[in-house]
Amino acid sequence: MSATKKPKRVAIIGTGYVGMACCIGFAEFGHQIVGYDILPERVRALQAGITPYREAGIGESLLTHLLNGRVSFVDDLPSAVSAADFIIVAVGTPSHADGSADITAVENVVTALTQMELHGATVVIRSTVPPGTSEWIADALRGNAHVVFAPEFLREGSAVHDFLNPDRVVVGAESRAIGMRYGDLFEHLSKPVLVMSLRNAELAKGMSNAFLAMKISFANEVANLCDDLDADALDVLEAVGYDKRIGRMFLQPGIGFGGPCFEKDLKSLISVSKSANADSHMLSATLHVNDRQPLRIVRTLIEEMGGSIDGARIGVWGLAFKAGTDDVRDSLALRIVEELASQGAEVVAYDPAIDGSAINLPCTFAGSALEAAEADALLVLTEWPQFRAVDAWALARRLRQKVVVDGRNILDIDAMSAAGIRYRGVGRRRTAESVEFAEAG
Ligand code: UDX
Repeated sequence: MSATKKPKRVAIIGTGYVGMACCIGFAEFGHQIVGYDILPERVRALQAGITPYREAGIGESLLTHLLNGRVSFVDDLPSAVSAADFIIVAVGTPSHADGSADITAVENVVTALTQMELHGATVVIRSTVPPGTSEWIADALRGNAHVVFAPEFLREGSAVHDFLNPDRVVVGAESRAIGMRYGDLFEHLSKPVLVMSLRNAELAKGMSNAFLAMKISFANEVANLCDDLDADALDVLEAVGYDKRIGRMFLQPGIGFGGPCFEKDLKSLISVSKSANADSHMLSATLHVNDRQPLRIVRTLIEEMGGSIDGARIGVWGLAFKAGTDDVRDSLALRIVEELASQGAEVVAYDPAIDGSAINLPCTFAGSALEAAEADALLVLTEWPQFRAVDAWALARRLRQKVVVDGRNILDIDAMSAAGIRYRGVGRRRTAESVEFAEAG
């Protein structure tokens, strides 16, 4: 923050991943933060410096800013917002059964805010909401507060880093002046601040996630084709991704995308398109490919196991929807474990971030990666770096049928094959001959 600028008072409503990244991020910028959550036990834990989930960059910074007095938490909304310049709304918007977004929590916060004196504060909606929602909020708070919609593009596992290093700041507002009240908080980062209408910003958020999800489904479709054609998808996608117009990120084939955002946001956009009688072929295809990908991984395993896994013991490495988090929301690894069990397999799982007693799954839990590999075959479902480091020979000694299906393409194909393991990645049906060809150079 520039020395001439006064720190702002920022209230954060909702202390999930997005709320906490804003809390730490704005404190790092030098502002004064009051966090509020509807769960009093969470507020108490945060007051004591305990975060309810694993997230890089939050734990230590939280303690620092609690101690220097820049961050505090309260369990009543009026005292959180009474003196705030900015009121950040970061509460959850899950899916209804029909795929549309359930914005009840946002509505409840807005209804409560309409009962309070906000002294012209800026209410910043960071929850992902369908197009049109922020216009309704602006109307509801007119005369009491200004409203902006500022979508988050934060990845779990690096949310604070992403907050502090945005590619761009998108701000939806009813006027440029209102939008820049929020945009100015990021001035010192010298990143593009894109001010647009509330509705355009809501769509920009949804379409960013849709495009990223589409890239992943595209990569998975390429990988599946490579499997069928005995080609290597990593070579193919690397060549594709080096084209600057395409880009290499989010082209890693695997078990499909999981987590609390992509699937939910795609379903919400499809529902919005339906209501507007618009086509959503690409969005639907993206979801369709993703729904099938976990079954494809199970099919690969069954193929390698000679046609059945009934009665087989299958080790599973990883349950979190990606490495660096203990979040299993919409994790495709869970769907795969359920599918394995429904096919008669006895599943033993290990994830370094997950305590098995906390989740209800048809499997037992091992205390280490190698213990989980005391099985007939092994499936890798989360790309934890420690799995990469496991010695191939140690793995081979434990696996009875020496089959590894690597749903994240993280293990060394040559080390696996040297240790006598039948290894299948996603889009990597590399034959012994092709390995020799590569070595002959
Ligand atoms: C995502 C968006 O990236 C973020 O901008 C948005 O605000 C919230 O949703 P997040 O869900 O935390 O973030 O995780 P992300 O890193 O995007 O990964 C989502 C899923 O896609 C994970 O299951 C991941 O393993 C998978 N993925 C990602 C792939 O399968 N291949 C890839 O190339 C990238």
